[in-house]
Amino acid sequence: SMASDSTGEQSVKVVLLGDSGVGKSSLALRFVTNEFKPYSESTIGASFMSKSIRIPVSPSSSLDDKSTQQERSIGLKIWDTAGQEKYRSLAPMYYRGAQVAILVYDITVPASFVALKEWALELKHNALPDLELVICGNKSDLEQFRRVDRAVGEQYAQEMDAVYVETSAKDGEGVADMFRGVAMRVP
Ligand code: GTP
Ligand code: MG
Repeated sequence: SMASDSTGEQSVKVVLLGDSGVGKSSLALRFVTNEFKPYSESTIGASFMSKSIRIPVSPSSSLDDKSTQQERSIGLKIWDTAGQEKYRSLAPMYYRGAQVAILVYDITVPASFVALKEWALELKHNALPDLELVICGNKSDLEQFRRVDRAVGEQYAQEMDAVYVETSAKDGEGVADMFRGVAMRVP
């Protein structure tokens, strides 16, 4: 179900959803430019970023010689939506046709996890049936202020047949792995 452009590069449409302030834009920025802004501005409407990455064609074994390992290029087309309530009605424009939805919450804000569950249900009813769901607990650098246990996030992801990851856009932990995983799971 992956699209190809005129150069033959495959692309994956990814949408980031979740409450305002959970770090959606910060995750996209960390992945695409490897930067972090401590005072990031709240997104208006939505924003778009893309990045091409190279991934192995087939899952490699540790015995594979790196020089002979075949790679393919995948363009990640990332739609970063606005979490503020006033933009909520725009979301379907961005998740319709997406192959992957990354639902983000802030591990220090339980309400953001409740909001994530609402997004997951909305997607189950309105998005493509083969949409891949990723549940992302962001701000893992704030472990001392954690208020949503990792096990709670993992359990919910399992129920929703979703992948669970924890990330920090601030220190970069888990961010590249999450987006690489997204690219590798789409056939
Ligand atoms: P909206 O655009 O309003 O939907 O918010 P958003 O989800 O895009 O959040 P944004 O990326 O703007 O981040 C909100 C605030 O959290 C900013 O002050 C960021 O610097 C901060 N932030 C984002 N990710 C992290 C993180 O991993 N750790 C820490 N400590 N702060 C983060
Ligand atoms: Mg934003």
